[in-house]
Amino acid sequence: MADSTSDPGKTIVVSGATDGMGKAVTLSRLARGDRLVAVGSNPAKFTALIAEAERLGAADRLHTVRADLSSIAENRRVIDEIAARWSAVDALLLFANRHSPRRRETVDGLEYTFALYYLSRYLLSRGLSPLLDAAADPVIVTVAGVGTTTGSIAWDDPQSTHGYRAIRAMVQGARANDLLGVGFAQEQAGRARFVMYHPGFTRSGDVSPFPLPVRILLRVAAALKARPVAESIAPIDGFIDHPPAQPLTAIDRGEPVDPALPTLDPADARRLAELTEQILARSTRPPDTCDRHHITGCRSVSS
Ligand SMILES: NC(=O)c1ccc[n+]([C@@H]2O[C@H](COP(=O)([O-])OP(=O)(O)OC[C@H]3O[C@@H](n4cnc5c(N)ncnc54)[C@H](OP(=O)(O)O)[C@@H]3O)[C@@H](O)[C@H]2O)c1
Repeated sequence: MADSTSDPGKTIVVSGATDGMGKAVTLSRLARGDRLVAVGSNPAKFTALIAEAERLGAADRLHTVRADLSSIAENRRVIDEIAARWSAVDALLLFANRHSPRRRETVDGLEYTFALYYLSRYLLSRGLSPLLDAAADPVIVTVAGVGTTTGSIAWDDPQSTHGYRAIRAMVQGARANDLLGVGFAQEQAGRARFVMYHPGFTRSGDVSPFPLPVRILLRVAAALKARPVAESIAPIDGFIDHPPAQPLTAIDRGEPVDPALPTLDPADARRLAELTEQILARSTRPPDTCDRHHITGCRSVSS
């Protein structure tokens, strides 16, 4: 099992490492000498990522894990695979997301955006917490839309079963990400400092799920208004190399976010964590994985 203290490079896990900002951070940290665990789902994108790592002479420090992070079991497999290989993780960077113009359900019967944008991050941050706790100065960075107050959690219908709207599902995912960070810090779910980062409109993002006219509009808007990827990811190096002292930090395009924002309400964070644990308790899992994943609801699940 590799030990992150045996050499100066950091061990960094990236969800959504095959494209956009996650890919850019992965390659930039490989170039700096770190060990990267890259998680994504598209085999062709992995081939391209590995080729770029080879060009950097860093392919031996890149470990790829192909997984569909919209699935609860797949997130657990990723956690197990990482835990089997590394004894400590210095940084967990959470980027994975995908637009879903129509409502669709995951293998667990959950709405896709909720599962991928929010639940995967809940599972990975808590499931990898023991490995993060074993690192000297651990940090979790979730890249979403903190500081924006649009949207809310549909407490009576979080799976968007009635009147699905893609934008509403996406902003609900963003608000759930805000509460994920608040919940992690207030529950002291691990030693890792939790950083919520809004990169602003960036020249990245897979628009392939949209119809052609929307794809064209989005590309034109990005060319005119969006920040280059390198600019948007620049602060992430600072979060990794010098994690903030406080348990929770929220940054919106370079500005600290007021922790008193209604979207960062601690009571809502508790409510969402409870709802999440109920969802996880309904999903089947082998009981022996409960303790390793440090997810409380799982103790009530029988095999
Ligand atoms: N771009 C912006 O303007 C902007 C602005 C604010 C916030 N954000 C947020 O920043 C994050 C990164 O955005 P981005 O523009 O870099 O996105 P992106 O270029 O679309 O990349 C998304 C990544 O997620 C992975 N992914 C998608 N579905 C997956 C699945 N089911 N299982 C595993 N991996 C999956 C993709 O890999 P595969 O294709 O290999 O599955 C890809 O690596 C997102 O959370 C986004 O909401 C973006």
